[in-house]
Amino acid sequence: MSTTGPLTSMQSTSTPSNATPAAAGGANEPPVMLDCQDLTRVYSEGPQDLTVLDKLELSVRAGERVAIVGSSGSGKTTLLNLLGGLDRPSDGRVVIAGEPLSNLNEAALGTFRNRYIGFVYQFHHLLAEFTAVENAALPLIIRGQSKKTAEKRAMQILERVGMKARADHKPGELSGGERQRVAIARALVTDPSLVLMDEPTGNLDQTTAATILALMDELAKESACAFVIVTHDVGLAAHQDRVLKLDAGKLVEQPRTP
Ligand SMILES: Nc1ncnc2c1ncn2[C@@H]1O[C@H](COP(=O)(O)OP(=O)(O)OP(=O)(O)O)[C@@H](O)[C@H]1O
Ligand SMILES: [Mg+2]
Repeated sequence: MSTTGPLTSMQSTSTPSNATPAAAGGANEPPVMLDCQDLTRVYSEGPQDLTVLDKLELSVRAGERVAIVGSSGSGKTTLLNLLGGLDRPSDGRVVIAGEPLSNLNEAALGTFRNRYIGFVYQFHHLLAEFTAVENAALPLIIRGQSKKTAEKRAMQILERVGMKARADHKPGELSGGERQRVAIARALVTDPSLVLMDEPTGNLDQTTAATILALMDELAKESACAFVIVTHDVGLAAHQDRVLKLDAGKLVEQPRTP
């Protein structure tokens, strides 16, 4: 996991909001890894404009794990796409590791994403013609690593998600949960500073989901990796440091269940 890079140059200041940790602001707090202000996304494609995110605020510190819950269609995937730089906001801004994404053109954004962000999509998006290990190694190959080095590292991560034995199979030969685990391995292989996950345990049985949870715990501790996890899984949400509900375009802090 990267301990160099953005953390050293980041400011540990952020604007407090209802989606900011209650204890934020202390001198010893970890730096803010992700900060959004006034984040707004309006879809204008249909007959009427649809405001999905409405001046949303979110701040996540290094090593912090935040769950985002909300009903279907509330805008969770829309939010993750903006956080990951896959879509541009209608208004407001996203700052990751001190860098406003709006400063980056498409090429720079691609490089930035590869350097700092791991993304687990709601529908995997694995490449059908590549094996599990090739899929998991791809972000490192894009970085310029040799196939051999990249696949060695990919195998280590695949082993941690219980996929070593299936590493030479293509996505079409894997179960839904196995594909999901390959997608998780691909997101983690670069030692990202920020991991964005859209329903990461949707297809997993309890035991496998618990393995993934333990891995996230280790990464958050070992490397100060920050996680934003969209989920309908109550157990997964409760396991995170904070639970925020997306409702009417804004995030609302959820009380912790005892
Ligand atoms: N490209 C688009 N153009 C127009 N409307 C869109 C577009 N993408 C999403 N929407 C609409 O925006 C709203 C939010 O969609 P989004 O996919 O973010 O929801 P979600 O919370 O992830 O839902 P789910 O839990 O079902 O995955 C929905 O009403 C959806 O129909
Ligand atoms: Mg979604």
